[in-house]
Amino acid sequence: MHQRGSVAPSSRARNCISRRRLTQNPDLDLGPEPTRLPVVRWDAKLYPLLLFFALLLLSQPIPFSHRQHAAGGLRCVSCHNPRGASAHMGFPPASLCMGCHRTIAAPKPAVRELARLAAQQQPIRWERVYELPDWVWFSHRRHAKTPCSKCHGPVEQRDELTAEVEISMKFCRSCHQQNKARAECGTCHESK
Ligand code: HEC
Ligand code: HEC
Ligand code: HEC
Ligand code: HEC
Ligand code: HEC
Repeated sequence: MHQRGSVAPSSRARNCISRRRLTQNPDLDLGPEPTRLPVVRWDAKLYPLLLFFALLLLSQPIPFSHRQHAAGGLRCVSCHNPRGASAHMGFPPASLCMGCHRTIAAPKPAVRELARLAAQQQPIRWERVYELPDWVWFSHRRHAKTPCSKCHGPVEQRDELTAEVEISMKFCRSCHQQNKARAECGTCHESK
């Protein structure tokens, strides 16, 4: 004949019992809150590391300053021109940069890194700032009369670009309505 307490409980039930027993036993000194302290310490250690990787991911491969280059008299079109069917502005090839930087500021670390990337003859992988989903149709060529700053802010004053103009559907459509440009859905959501 089995006694009540001698029936072997399933492992899950065993866990429940032992945890309940532990927390209910007044004689047991479980110490301070078991989970909080170590978690806080671990996080604090992790923050600089996370920050480091975030900066690494978000920063440009070369610290390029629009302000510095605009001050030197370079115009936007020297480096950005609408090309192809999608009329992307694109980014200048490293060879264009090297046209000046073979001599200008050549010993500077950032320019040496530029020379190294240029020698690989592959496009520099710039971190994108403005990017639409590919199901929205947009063309820079169709906006040739609109100043760049309407959609990108005062780029020539910036050492580092951020998406300071929020390009939303409302932003696009309200300008179209104001300027009596086409504003029905198919204008921007149709493959052309
Ligand atoms: C010397 C070449 C050069 C000139 C001149 C130049 N740019 Fe750029 N532009 C770049 C490079 C390189 C990048 C990529 C690095 C970055 O985002 O800062 C870039 C990035 C951008 C971007 C972000 C695009 C994206 O979505 O990632 C915008 C917007 C832009 N440029 C606008 C302008 C405007 C407006 C002007 C004129 C006021 C201008 N640029 C002049 C080289 C140039
Ligand atoms: C009407 C708004 C508008 C104007 C005006 C405008 N842009 Fe843009 N620009 C955009 C949008 C939207 C994107 C993102 C396009 C995409 O992801 O397809 C973009 C992207 C870019 C890029 C990244 C490469 C690319 O083409 O996707 C560069 C560089 C750029 N713009 C430069 C310029 C320059 C230089 C001017 C002025 C000559 C200018 N833009 C004028 C809205 C504008
Ligand atoms: C027309 C000539 C010209 C072109 C083209 C040009 N730059 Fe420059 N760049 C300059 C000048 C001038 C300076 C300022 C140098 C100084 O103050 O010592 C500069 C400064 C720089 C610096 C800062 C160097 C430092 O640490 O002081 C970097 C990085 C740079 N350019 C990258 C680029 C990149 C990337 C491109 C191509 C997208 C490019 N440049 C295209 C002329 C040019
Ligand atoms: C600052 C005002 C302004 C903003 C912002 C703007 N547009 Fe436009 N857009 C215009 C004007 C004006 C035209 C008509 C240009 C013409 O007919 O020469 C136009 C034309 C177009 C066309 C061509 C329409 C046709 O007639 O076939 C498309 C597509 C377009 N815009 C998409 C967009 C998208 C997508 C955005 C947002 C990312 C945007 N636009 C933001 C002013 C603007
Ligand atoms: C002038 C250009 C333009 C016109 C006209 C336009 N859209 Fe959009 N639409 C956009 C852009 C740009 C985005 C992407 C916004 C983003 O990435 O945040 C978008 C996004 C969307 C989305 C995704 C959800 C969202 O809000 O981000 C839907 C759905 C949509 N549009 C439907 C429509 C419908 C329906 C119409 C007609 C009533 C319309 N659009 C007219 C430019 C336009």
